[in-house]
Amino acid sequence: MKIEHQQPPVRHDDAEWTPRPTLSGSEYVAREVYQEECERIWWGDWVCVGRTEEVASPGDYVVRDLAGESIFVTRNEDGELRGFYNVCSHRGTRFLDEPGGSTKKVLKCPYHAWTYDLSGRLVGTPNVKQDEHFDRARYPLHGFAVDSYAGFLFVNLAREPRPLMAALTDGAESITAFERFRMDELRVGVRIDYEVAANWKIVVENYNECLHCPVVHPELVKVVPLFRFGEVWDEETRDDGNWMVEGATSFTTSGRSELPKLPDLLPEDYSMYYGSYEFPNLMLNLHPDCAMYYIGFPKGPGHTTVVSEYLFRPETIADPDAFKPEPVVELWDLISRQDWEVCERAQTGVGSRAFTTGVFPRQDRFLYSFNEEYRHAMGRPLLG
Ligand code: FES
Ligand SMILES: [Fe+2]
Repeated sequence: MKIEHQQPPVRHDDAEWTPRPTLSGSEYVAREVYQEECERIWWGDWVCVGRTEEVASPGDYVVRDLAGESIFVTRNEDGELRGFYNVCSHRGTRFLDEPGGSTKKVLKCPYHAWTYDLSGRLVGTPNVKQDEHFDRARYPLHGFAVDSYAGFLFVNLAREPRPLMAALTDGAESITAFERFRMDELRVGVRIDYEVAANWKIVVENYNECLHCPVVHPELVKVVPLFRFGEVWDEETRDDGNWMVEGATSFTTSGRSELPKLPDLLPEDYSMYYGSYEFPNLMLNLHPDCAMYYIGFPKGPGHTTVVSEYLFRPETIADPDAFKPEPVVELWDLISRQDWEVCERAQTGVGSRAFTTGVFPRQDRFLYSFNEEYRHAMGRPLLG
């Protein structure tokens, strides 16, 4: 499916704002809407599925459930990233079970032992005789586009994928604004998975607003004082950064950590928090000494698996005296669990017959931008 992409109006930062409607209740709960999202968003354009370090060497592979499609990404003998459906070309069997692994040479289907090389070519078909005129070249694995940016791994299951960079620079924010953090060099030091009984859009909307911060996150608003006022942006600062509380140099309850700082950032970066959302499922947080992100994987209209990973300099992870991620992880894990609880609470209400749409006040304007981007991706008219 080909989607026409032209940028919806972005951030509504202008002073004029009149209350706008949220998405409708059915858009958060209906199975038909979810199916359409699968076609148009999850299988129709670029989606983040992890980090390239998980497929660092030829033969490494990672398996992902992408809105119900089992897929895997591997690195072939030439060092190129390749993506395939986890579906045998013989009779459709799912053949990889583990979430990831490494193979020396070939991938083998457990049903009739047909084997594929790391570029998806069918190379072994035991007991199939050549005199049947069987041409293995006609039955490779079913592939799709894979690309990476800043160490993030993206897949695109569309037949005619647009360039990844076009998708990354669409929308109100872009992770491409943060080249100076050299995220491609960072490595995952901590991972926590969360199961959230809420629609993926509720998780995204919650990430993108801070009206709830003074109510839900008393610990967070002490670290980032602007959040106390329900704002997500300091419109005066570069890249929409937010100053941490006076004297804080790390995103922790005390404002300090023993982690070495990321090198060569701008002077103000060492006192800032940056958040950046990349449609549809990457929510990035940048700190003076690490990066943390959520990747949302929808598991039906009412459930999202949220993977949170923390990136550090490789030399920091390698040094037991320097690698002290606990204070950052503790604060984020607390914030995360506070968020999931209210997301799940929201999910139970949007399914009510009383809820047609809700309302966005000005502080929620970025959620409205997200909804416009969503309508655009779904091929629906923008509300403007
Ligand atoms: S289904 Fe995979 S080898 Fe037969
Ligand atoms: Fe929150």
